[in-house]
Amino acid sequence: MKQIIMLLVIGFLSAVSTQSQAKRLDPSAGKDAFETCRGCHSTHNYSNVAPVYYVPKIGGQRKGYVASALTAYKHENRARTSMLPNAYNLTEQMTAAIAQYVEESAGSKSKASYREGDAKKGEKLAESCLGCHTKDLDDGMTAPILAGQHGNYLVKVMKDYQSGVRKDPVMKSMVGAFSEDDLKDIAAYFANMKGLSIVK
Ligand code: HEC
Ligand code: HEC
Repeated sequence: MKQIIMLLVIGFLSAVSTQSQAKRLDPSAGKDAFETCRGCHSTHNYSNVAPVYYVPKIGGQRKGYVASALTAYKHENRARTSMLPNAYNLTEQMTAAIAQYVEESAGSKSKASYREGDAKKGEKLAESCLGCHTKDLDDGMTAPILAGQHGNYLVKVMKDYQSGVRKDPVMKSMVGAFSEDDLKDIAAYFANMKGLSIVK
């Protein structure tokens, strides 16, 4: 009888400890899970092929946005790119751990070299964007940081909002009326600011 009680107690204790392990966010879990992402997101100017644009910088990006972007790829609410196989089997908990790691693992803030577009013209066009797209993590905003992002990536995704490939009604209305030249000017303005980096 004593033995049975002991077994029950041990069983109960181990069940409790697995449960609390599942709830706690292990800081190294995000880092370990990120190893498969480094080839693209920890490599300077790593380029996507067809269409050609630089893989976005995400080092220092807001964790809430990183998590929602990963969830959008998983549910195919964004373009089918190499991100689909990288996101489809992430659990909610792993997504949160990765997002935390990405936000905290910024390299030094850098500009992106982007030679198309006119940053001065872009500054005027982007006035209405700055209310949401601020660049400091501690200002409590939720929209992604654009400062320092690769210009050709910014143009590509603004076109995705225009065409509805990326589904976001606010962003569709914000960029809907711009021409391709306007998009390049806006991209030059944000790319030319120090901000995001590759993940350290
Ligand atoms: C083969 C290269 C490749 C690998 C590996 C990869 N990514 Fe990506 N990632 C991309 C590309 C390309 C995009 C832009 C896709 C698009 O057009 O929306 C992207 C976009 C993202 C975004 C959205 C960025 C933004 O500004 O909206 C996040 C977050 C992200 N990746 C995280 C990850 C994580 C986490 C992993 C590993 C689990 C990973 N990626 C693995 C190529 C890659
Ligand atoms: C009301 C707030 C708001 C305003 C104003 C706004 N945005 Fe956004 N923007 C967002 C949010 C939220 C997202 C994330 C949407 C998603 O999950 O795809 C976003 C996403 C983006 C992205 C994709 C970033 C990435 O890393 O993939 C770009 C580029 C962008 N916005 C450009 C602009 C530009 C240019 C303007 C001004 C003309 C603008 N936004 C105005 C809220 C805003």
